[in-house]
Amino acid sequence: MNILLLGSGGREHALAWKMAQSNKLGKLYIAPGNAGTAVCGEDIELNISDFKAIKHEVLSRSVDIVIVGPEAPLVEGIADFFAADNELKSIPVIGPKKLGATLEGSKQFAKEFMFRHNVPTAKYQSFNKTNLNDGYSFLETLQPPYVLKADGLAAGKGVLILDNLEEARSELRSMIEDNKFGEASANVVIEEFLKGIELSVFVLTDGESYKILPEAKDYKRIGEGDTGLNTGGMGAISPVPFADADFMQKVEDQVVKPTIEGFKKDGFDYKGFVFIGLMNDNGNPSVVEYNVRMGDPETEVVIPRIKSDLVELFAACGNGTLHNYELEIDDRIATTVMLVSGGYPEAYEKGKTITGIDSVTDSIVFHAGTKQKSGEIVTSGGRVIAVTSFGKTMKEALHKSFKSAETISFESKYFRSDIGFDLVNEPTTA
Ligand code: AMP
Ligand code: GLY
Repeated sequence: MNILLLGSGGREHALAWKMAQSNKLGKLYIAPGNAGTAVCGEDIELNISDFKAIKHEVLSRSVDIVIVGPEAPLVEGIADFFAADNELKSIPVIGPKKLGATLEGSKQFAKEFMFRHNVPTAKYQSFNKTNLNDGYSFLETLQPPYVLKADGLAAGKGVLILDNLEEARSELRSMIEDNKFGEASANVVIEEFLKGIELSVFVLTDGESYKILPEAKDYKRIGEGDTGLNTGGMGAISPVPFADADFMQKVEDQVVKPTIEGFKKDGFDYKGFVFIGLMNDNGNPSVVEYNVRMGDPETEVVIPRIKSDLVELFAACGNGTLHNYELEIDDRIATTVMLVSGGYPEAYEKGKTITGIDSVTDSIVFHAGTKQKSGEIVTSGGRVIAVTSFGKTMKEALHKSFKSAETISFESKYFRSDIGFDLVNEPTTA
């Protein structure tokens, strides 16, 4: 089976690494990929929003299935483009159509979906310039902290959590009237603050059936102790100790089942990943957000824990036989630590030579922002490399990841040496 994987991050390297281990794999193409994916298959220089160029590659290289890593091509309608094209419609795309992808593209759409299908989530209302005053009144009915969310995609920056009512009023005004997050904040969702600890649950569905993949917790802030600016993610662990069997059963019954049923009832024709951001409030799940893709760096701990064949999993998803697939999970603990360019998530330099990757023996090195240049591997992004390790305990896995993180060098390298700090002494269920 020939596969085209779209994307270029650590998530895509982890997917490519796992697919490359399958004897069901023919050729693997990654577009545009990075220096790590180039070792698992063939990188193709391609703009992943250029569907005509993707069509050309798919047909000329006899691609049998397309796996979409990031959300942008999904929100832009790549799955609809394939379904509407006579030459492409028999080639499955793992990733939802535009309507389903709106779950990630619009917070209001996602909240309406959750309420319609009885998926537990915080109560909310949405506002725009026609009812801004109602927004101020709604804020007064809530207890601090106040949660304000730009409705549209805002590069992960569109959520504000504010302790003070005055500040919340002023930010609401600025989001709507001053376009603080551009068009994305023309519409703002205000919601109740959810208490608890956050985790992410990943599901793959073929539209009828589903498989729940290992859950994970990521560390989003740049600074140790969860401080400073938000990033794409600085590290992750899986499994999550506080997601015990009871809690995961509630997640399946109260969240996963109504979500997949909701996709069917609403005619989403959803084939692909669902990434459910959840709050565990005293053992009860409440949905914070849906994403329509895998998380990054969560994929770098979730995928290595899948023991069964990933190409077969995607094939089963593509042809609607997921119910027959037996998902096998490794019960060891996986941790990943992200090495980033100094300055990230603000301005940073690229093109720094990376050394030491070949000296890593205890971890799997997943490339994110890297590329080949004159025979060297150099940095080409903010998040550069994710170092994933296994252990019987979280401590053991983290120890290996931190040691390997020290082994790899590039100018201004930074990583958080406290990933898992809040969980490491908790009992694990695995
Ligand atoms: P989102 O983009 O919706 O995932 O929000 C970004 C982050 O803000 C989440 O990962 C949570 O940490 C936090 N957050 C969002 N909504 C809420 C909420 N209702 N209560 C508490 N924290 C929230
Ligand atoms: N790590 C969070 C995300 O991928 O959105």
